[in-house]
Amino acid sequence: MDIKITDSIKYIGTNDYDLDLFESQYIVPNGMAYNSYLILDEKSAVMAAADKRKIDEWLSALEKELAGEKPYYLVLQHLEPDHTGAVKAFCDKYPEAILVMGETAKRMFPQFAAVDNEIVTVKDGESLSLGSHTLKFTASPMVHWPEVMMCYEESEKVLFSADAFGKFGTLDTDEDWACEARRYYFNIVGKYGQQVQALLGKLADCPIEIICPLHGPILSENLDYYLGLYKTWSAYEPESEGTFVAVASIHGHTLEAAEYFAEQLKALGEPKVAFSEVPREDQAECVEDAFRYPKTVLFACSYDAGLFPPMEELLMHLRDKTYRNRKVALVQNGSWAPSAGRVMKSYLDNMQNIEYIGDLITIKTSLTEENKAQLKALAEAVHNA
Ligand SMILES: Cc1cc2nc3c(=O)[nH]c(=O)nc-3n(C[C@H](O)[C@H](O)[C@H](O)COP(=O)(O)O)c2cc1C
Ligand SMILES: [Fe+2]
Ligand SMILES: [Fe+2]
Repeated sequence: MDIKITDSIKYIGTNDYDLDLFESQYIVPNGMAYNSYLILDEKSAVMAAADKRKIDEWLSALEKELAGEKPYYLVLQHLEPDHTGAVKAFCDKYPEAILVMGETAKRMFPQFAAVDNEIVTVKDGESLSLGSHTLKFTASPMVHWPEVMMCYEESEKVLFSADAFGKFGTLDTDEDWACEARRYYFNIVGKYGQQVQALLGKLADCPIEIICPLHGPILSENLDYYLGLYKTWSAYEPESEGTFVAVASIHGHTLEAAEYFAEQLKALGEPKVAFSEVPREDQAECVEDAFRYPKTVLFACSYDAGLFPPMEELLMHLRDKTYRNRKVALVQNGSWAPSAGRVMKSYLDNMQNIEYIGDLITIKTSLTEENKAQLKALAEAVHNA
């Protein structure tokens, strides 16, 4: 793709239009991009490789931008196979090229590619001169792997941010950045908010003009907006006003209750009611919405003396992403011995700073007038929370 970054920094990434699931888990309705860049200088540096699905396309994009020259360095900021699947092919083609990576990455590297090229390691804070460009490395452990090393190009003020500021979708997709970047962030990086905060602190002194992530568009305008969202997300602070209502119903009664509740909440003027039928919705989208809003209301069926599995799966994801600092209300349904509430609570009780709104409401199969009154009262309590 012809994407202009600067006169000497070229885009050589690839778009993957027919990937079924990114990381074998996340739907990518608009595909995925594996970004890679070439910094042309006395010692030209290739910034990241590509997924094995795109070896030929990536190598030919690189060859075209090199215009007969040879790459001097291949800088590996992150070893995950979506960025290193093509390293072996690169090294076969350019045996003289020097690989640049952090020390942790060097220890892990043999797991990802067996190559004979020289490897140079860089430490946090170290610089590497390419001629007129200088790369300054910033260790970014656990954003979102241990070996991640971002780098900042000083002369053009470009941050090569590894997977941070990444997004699902190919680069020719015209869609809202935040929606797919938020889904990417909370599901892939979300557990490591503290490490992202540390990184943002380290970067605070760098005047950044362009962010070149490993996925998603190159960001060159309005950078405070993107940095601001990352600050909010990594601090586990809600981003938007409103309530997320998630329901896992088997035969529809619990769904009816959730819909009734959502109507009441909307009628009270709640700024936003995001509603998901958990078994039918992309779980990653549910995780995203649970983090987006300050309040979440969960409606679920009892199942085999436990919790209906789609809701349990959502809670497992939220536990793994260290869900916290939210207000939560619970509604359970059960036809003989309701057990969903107990299981939902067992997950939430182990999370940090979860405040319950109202008491657990129990429905026995179908919604009664009493249940309706309880849901109406809950809507008021949630709206005022
Ligand atoms: C496989 C299966 C297991 C269930 N296990 C329980 C249970 O352990 N305790 C209970 O009270 N209800 C149980 N139920 C009933 C569901 O909780 C019931 O479908 C629900 O409460 C009614 O709401 P719904 O119309 O939203 O499905 C089970 C239902 C199914 C299909
Ligand atoms: Fe990654
Ligand atoms: Fe990635």
